[in-house]
Amino acid sequence: MTQKFKVLVTRKWPKIVEDKLNSDFEVTLNESDIPLSEQQLIEGMQNFDALLPTVTDTISDKVLSASNKKVKIIGNFGVGFNNIDIESAKKNNIVVTNTPEVLTDCTADIAMLLMLGAARRGSEGEFHVRKKEWNGWRPTHMMGTKITGKTLGLIGMGRIAQAMAHKAHFGFKMKILFFDPYIKSESLENLNATSCINIDELLEKSDFVSLHCPSTKETQGLINYETLKKMKGSAYLINTARGDIVVEKDLVRALKDQVIKGAGLDVYEKEPQVENELLKLKNVFLLPHLGSATEETREAMGMRVFDNISSFFHGNEPHDRVV
Ligand code: DGY
Repeated sequence: MTQKFKVLVTRKWPKIVEDKLNSDFEVTLNESDIPLSEQQLIEGMQNFDALLPTVTDTISDKVLSASNKKVKIIGNFGVGFNNIDIESAKKNNIVVTNTPEVLTDCTADIAMLLMLGAARRGSEGEFHVRKKEWNGWRPTHMMGTKITGKTLGLIGMGRIAQAMAHKAHFGFKMKILFFDPYIKSESLENLNATSCINIDELLEKSDFVSLHCPSTKETQGLINYETLKKMKGSAYLINTARGDIVVEKDLVRALKDQVIKGAGLDVYEKEPQVENELLKLKNVFLLPHLGSATEETREAMGMRVFDNISSFFHGNEPHDRVV
C-alpha cells in the first residue's frame, strides 16, 4: 500500500498481529494495555483513519460523533459489538466490523468448562486441595451432578451455541433443546436439537441452561428472579454471552434460596466488578471472561481485524461488516 493509513489499537494485542498491522499501516499501539479514556477515544477518532477497539471499550455516540473525525472504520476485536453504538455509527457513516467464527470453538469449550466446573464443583474442589483441607476419599465427599445424558437448553442458537450443542451431544450424550426466535426450523437434525416454543418451556425442561444470545434491549435482564424460578431446582445456569442478560443480584438470591442448584459464569453485569455476594457462594464456578482466550483464537481474531481493515482500505467490502 503506498499511502499508509493511520490506525489506533486501544489495547495490547498478540505480538504476531501487532507486527502484521505494523507492516501495512502506521500503527499506534497501546503498550501499557491501560484502557483509553473517553477523551482519548475521541482524540483517536479525530487523528486516525481506523480505530481498533475491543469489547471493553465503550464506543458511544459522543465518541462516534466527535467533531472533525477522520476515522472511517472501526474494526472491533471481538464478535460481540454491544460496546459500540451501532445507530450512531450508521448516522456518522462509519463502517463497523467484528470477528465471528474464529472464536466459536474456544468459547463453546469455556461454556463446557463452566458446565463441568459448576456441576462437578471444580473450583471448590481445587481450593479444598490447595488449602490442605482434604483429608481423604470418602463416598459422600463433594458429590456433584452428573452431566452425561442430561438435558442442555440453549437460549440463542448461533454458532457458539451450535458448537456447544455438538460437544455436549456427541461428547456427553446430552439431549439438546434450544430457543432462538431467528431460527425457524423445529429441529437441527445434525445436532439432535429440538426447538422449544418459548423460553419458559426451555427453562422448565433443562438441567443446564446456557445463554448464547447477544445483549440487546430485548435480552438485557432476561434472566431474573422470576425466570430463574421457572428452572428446575436441580438445574444450573451457564453464561458465556454477556453479563447484563442476567440480573446478577437476582441470581445471587436464587442461588442462596436454592431456587437453582448452581451457576457457571464467564461474564458479569458490571464487568470487571463482580457482585460481592456471588464471590462468597460455593455453588458458582467463576471465570474472568476467558471465552476466546487461547493464543490460537486471539491471534485469529486479530488477523480477522487486519483482513477487515485491509479490505476496506483497498476499496473492498470487509468480510465481517456489521454496518
Ligand atoms: C467477544 O468476542 O464478543 C467475546 O466476548 C470476547 O471474546
